[in-house]
Amino acid sequence: MANQPAGETERHKATVRDEFTRQAPVYAAAPIITDAERLARLVGAIEPGADDRALEVATGPGHVAMALAARCREVVGIDLTPAPLEIARRLSRERGIANVRFELGEADRLGFADGEFNLVVCRFAFHHFENPEAILAEMRRVCAAGGAIAIEDLFASEHPGRADRYNHCERLRDSSHTRALAPTELIAMTARAGLEVERLYSMSARAEVEPWLAAARTPPDKAASSASSSARSRSSAASCERRKARRRINVWRAARAGRARRNTAAAPCAGRSDRFRNR
Ligand SMILES: C[S@@+](CC[C@H](N)C(=O)[O-])C[C@H]1O[C@@H](n2cnc3c(N)ncnc32)[C@H](O)[C@@H]1O
Repeated sequence: MANQPAGETERHKATVRDEFTRQAPVYAAAPIITDAERLARLVGAIEPGADDRALEVATGPGHVAMALAARCREVVGIDLTPAPLEIARRLSRERGIANVRFELGEADRLGFADGEFNLVVCRFAFHHFENPEAILAEMRRVCAAGGAIAIEDLFASEHPGRADRYNHCERLRDSSHTRALAPTELIAMTARAGLEVERLYSMSARAEVEPWLAAARTPPDKAASSASSSARSRSSAASCERRKARRRINVWRAARAGRARRNTAAAPCAGRSDRFRNR
């Protein structure tokens, strides 16, 4: 379609596959990914109904999809990378979850009909997309009118310099990181997609250097060489990550941004003002 935003390049998809094939086992077991309380908070914000059909885009090892399956009729998780999908299938089998399935798929060209799902969810993946706008458009396409879209992701500072430095550090750690957006960019993108933000909130987590590197399986040469050069170069991964250990990683969540409100009495968007503080 002429006005359709461009999707992901094959080159970037190959980078994503390389990273998440390498990271798959460690990532799947990382506490920040498996934490039941966080998952419950996200699922609570989504408010799934027993009759809902949900899609998780970029499901990875499937933790969100499996948490949703306990509350929905059916859940489908898609991902570009076979390795985490194999873990997701194994875990769902071991847990006896029969109403979830995992398929190979591309977020920028979802293999589903318009309006097939009531809920479309994506956690911790927008910062891996080259063209988040195109992917949000696809998520909207497969979401039924009155359905809900939920996105949870890292967010960057509103301060351009700080945001650039933060994204630079993330790319050193994981080459498939593209760019974490600032809150105002996320909100603007949601509006351009024709969605209405119904809920928006943030939470913080401290990133300890070692587990944070370990979860991404950052190659030792990158971490070590940057450690030795960190005294000379502020752009090395180690110097960035040392700084990061003292900072908070911000998690942005927007939930229930639907084409039309399913519940017209739903609360308007509420947010914490510190999300927008220029630090
Ligand atoms: C950080 S993991 C998040 C996994 C999962 N959503 C979670 O919260 O644990 C990012 C995932 O996005 C997937 N991904 C990145 N780009 C994608 C794309 N264009 N289409 C489908 N999956 C993609 C990767 O393969 C990887 O499994």
